Amino acid sequence: MHIAVVGSGYVGLVTGACFADLGHDVILVDNDQSKLNALRKGEVPIHEKFLPELLDKHRGKRIRFSEDLQSAARASEVIFIAVGTPATESGDADMSYIESVAREISGAVDSYKVVVEKSTVPVYTNEWIQKIIRRNGAHPEQFDIASNPEFLREGTGVTDFLYPDRIVVGVETERAAEVMKNVYGPLTSGWYYGRNDAVPRPDRAQTPPQLIITSAKSAELIKHASNAFLAMKISFINAVASICETVGANVQQVCEGIGTDSRIGPRFLNPGIGYGGSCFPKDLLAFRSVAKESGYDFRLLEEVIRINEEQRHRFLRKVRSVLWTLRGKRLGVLGLAFKGGTDDIRESPALLLVEELSREGCKVCAYDPAAMERAKEALGNGVEFATDAYQAAKGADAVLILTEWEEFASLDLQRLRSLVKYPIVLDGRNLYDPALMAENGFSYYSVGRPAALCEETASRGAKKERA
Ligand code: UGA
Repeated sequence: MHIAVVGSGYVGLVTGACFADLGHDVILVDNDQSKLNALRKGEVPIHEKFLPELLDKHRGKRIRFSEDLQSAARASEVIFIAVGTPATESGDADMSYIESVAREISGAVDSYKVVVEKSTVPVYTNEWIQKIIRRNGAHPEQFDIASNPEFLREGTGVTDFLYPDRIVVGVETERAAEVMKNVYGPLTSGWYYGRNDAVPRPDRAQTPPQLIITSAKSAELIKHASNAFLAMKISFINAVASICETVGANVQQVCEGIGTDSRIGPRFLNPGIGYGGSCFPKDLLAFRSVAKESGYDFRLLEEVIRINEEQRHRFLRKVRSVLWTLRGKRLGVLGLAFKGGTDDIRESPALLLVEELSREGCKVCAYDPAAMERAKEALGNGVEFATDAYQAAKGADAVLILTEWEEFASLDLQRLRSLVKYPIVLDGRNLYDPALMAENGFSYYSVGRPAALCEETASRGAKKERA
């Protein structure tokens, strides 16, 4: 099929590359000339597993890059809109990019096309896109609108796209449903999974995926409700972790106990320093706003947001209580991205904590496997940057683990121990077994689990408590 994807951000780029891998001819449209030039030269602007390989494989063949939206739309049967919907000050999604894309598409509707919203949008957006395209001269018989929310996570976007739990398509006509079934046919028929050159199957993938056809409004709500539910799961376990800390229970054991109930499930139950990223924080605000507009005061979402922010402050208080005073303390910080596997620092709890600790007078030396460049721009000169985890830890009064990178979960603990000034680790992501840390001579503080104190620092801690 001939497909245009408008917007070459995380979603657009992954979507375009994956459609090309499914055998479609894709034109990726963006109005940022320098981004397009970089993509044409083979550069990949984001850190995303398998994306460079897919772009290399299809560049100039099944995937082309263009700034000419109208020509791309004319040449395509299906046009995916994947431009940004940033939050405005009030928390509503800013729909102006979507509106201007819809306006431009209207001039290119010269044969039947399906215009698909892929960006995360409030309910009713499909009706607005339809109105805008009609208002600008397109014949109503010549196009349909579909909503096809994405559920991809940064870092695993390609495998999430190609091995999804489900594909949701919201349409209002049978004709649009048929077109969308063909778009995803290579996945739903299982054809893609039989190919020798398919992107490797991740654990847990069930193929072929189910295609769920709904109304456009339901599909729009499915996206917001999914993200809100996942964020709620994280805030819920973070709240439970706080109770565990005060009563001396272990949140890991609690997670095992509740997560094995198949109605609850074990995933997205990892406590930590709170969720971040470009999706959950923005989408929760937008969903709350959508609910309010429809007359429903969705206070549960406010509580989810409040717990999330509190979780970060709680961790900061923990650092303070372990180190007593912060001014002048040297901290080795491991992780700046909002989660492991990505270079994205948007709304990263790790970055917010580093800013706060620097404000309080700590000397931070940070390392992240992928987000260093972006973090340097955001943090400026106040923070030192290391070339690896060990360099970040050198001479540190304490080491802080703030992002759940796999490489931080398998550090050479004896090497780390020999480098730090004091063997204190505060783990905001629960990457280690507390007993193992104590065996290796560390005092180890994590989230929702009893601290493991090694003898050396335990005596210092006891002195401090007496004081
Ligand atoms: C999220 C959703 O998971 C995707 O399904 C959705 O498509 C995407 O938003 C989107 O709307 O575009 P993403 O933001 O990439 O994906 O990252 P997640 O893996 O969901 O993690 C979000 C945050 O929650 C991270 O800061 C992560 O560290 C935190 N998290 C996640 C936890 O603290 N605990 C967990 O158990 C899981």
